[in-house]
Amino acid sequence: MHALLLKADGFSSTGVPASDLKDVAPFVEHGEVPVPVPGPGQVLIRVRASMVNPSDLSFIQGNYGQPRVKGAPAGFEGVGEVVDGKGFMAARLKGKRVSFVAGPTGSGAWAEYAVADAATVIKLRADIRDEDGAAMIVNPLTAAAMVGMVPPNGAFVASAAASQLGKLMAPLARDTNRRMIALVRRDAPVAALKELGAAHVLNETAPDFDQALAKVLAAEKPKLFLDAVSGAVSARVFNAMGMDARWVVYGKLTPEPPEILEPGKLIFMRKRIEGFWLVTWMRRTGIFGKLSAIRDVQSRFADGRWKTDISARVPLRKAVADLPKALRQTDGKIMIEIGQA
Ligand SMILES: NC(=O)c1ccc[n+]([C@@H]2O[C@H](COP(=O)([O-])OP(=O)(O)OC[C@H]3O[C@@H](n4cnc5c(N)ncnc54)[C@H](OP(=O)(O)O)[C@@H]3O)[C@@H](O)[C@H]2O)c1
Repeated sequence: MHALLLKADGFSSTGVPASDLKDVAPFVEHGEVPVPVPGPGQVLIRVRASMVNPSDLSFIQGNYGQPRVKGAPAGFEGVGEVVDGKGFMAARLKGKRVSFVAGPTGSGAWAEYAVADAATVIKLRADIRDEDGAAMIVNPLTAAAMVGMVPPNGAFVASAAASQLGKLMAPLARDTNRRMIALVRRDAPVAALKELGAAHVLNETAPDFDQALAKVLAAEKPKLFLDAVSGAVSARVFNAMGMDARWVVYGKLTPEPPEILEPGKLIFMRKRIEGFWLVTWMRRTGIFGKLSAIRDVQSRFADGRWKTDISARVPLRKAVADLPKALRQTDGKIMIEIGQA
């Protein structure tokens, strides 16, 4: 099968933040490898389309917290049909269109075929577009899990809010009576995020950002800061928040280190810093909680309350050459189309 194959093993401490990566050629190459064989409890999926997420761009560089396997297909998330599998659940899924996440040390989604654990794939409703099916797990379930951390009628701050994840969180927050204070770094996405449901949208590069933030924090009193950037601005935002504030780090979109500006606030104001990873949430959430989140995610895509914005489509076999141009557009997701020559 054709695939984009990892060029190196293990980890690397060098690398650039996912949003600054301009070329994947140093890290993956197009090649042909045997179709992977599913193990017990796994399914083999004929992939239709897969996503290029920030986690993929960190992983291929070796700085995602999971070791790479040289020669294995890269790519975490995609959509396709189950064509084979081992075990009871796998047999029931045969012939079904599913969203899937491939394990980081297994055979990935940037390939004509991929393997995934049968227990983790999502059988798709017929009215879900492939574009949404290919991006159904990583960002939507993270949005559902993280917005669910905010108490009803409460407020939260979210950085990098022009991201696909931010665009999912804004309407979900509005629909569930939570108020999102969205931080962006450009003026262009401000109006669209307000339209989607953010209660406030602040440009962190504006000269009066600190004053505007202080005003909104005083009015909304958010206790949660969902942060995908983890840099100097993040540190200022956390410092400006009040008693019991939680800084939840779930991404690292800038190379600059964040600083704890006033450690005394951790001591005397019960402020906390923690991490969020969807994989941990999936492991810790009971089956009914997961099924309910998945049902909600599918119906939001099916009825149009959510949609995946696609900024570029690249054919698998030309992806290494086409990705540099696609990566320059930051207003949506890049989708790899597997069947396209
Ligand atoms: N921990 C988890 O389980 C988990 C799960 C899902 C996603 N994530 C993380 O969530 C984040 C968003 O993912 P996504 O797929 O939604 O991303 P995306 O659609 O590719 O968008 C990335 C966004 O980040 C913004 N950005 C990049 N660098 C920035 C910086 N230095 N300062 C401020 N904003 C910056 C970009 O802003 P512009 O539009 O201005 O360029 C862009 O809007 C990523 O960090 C990803 O790794 C984590």
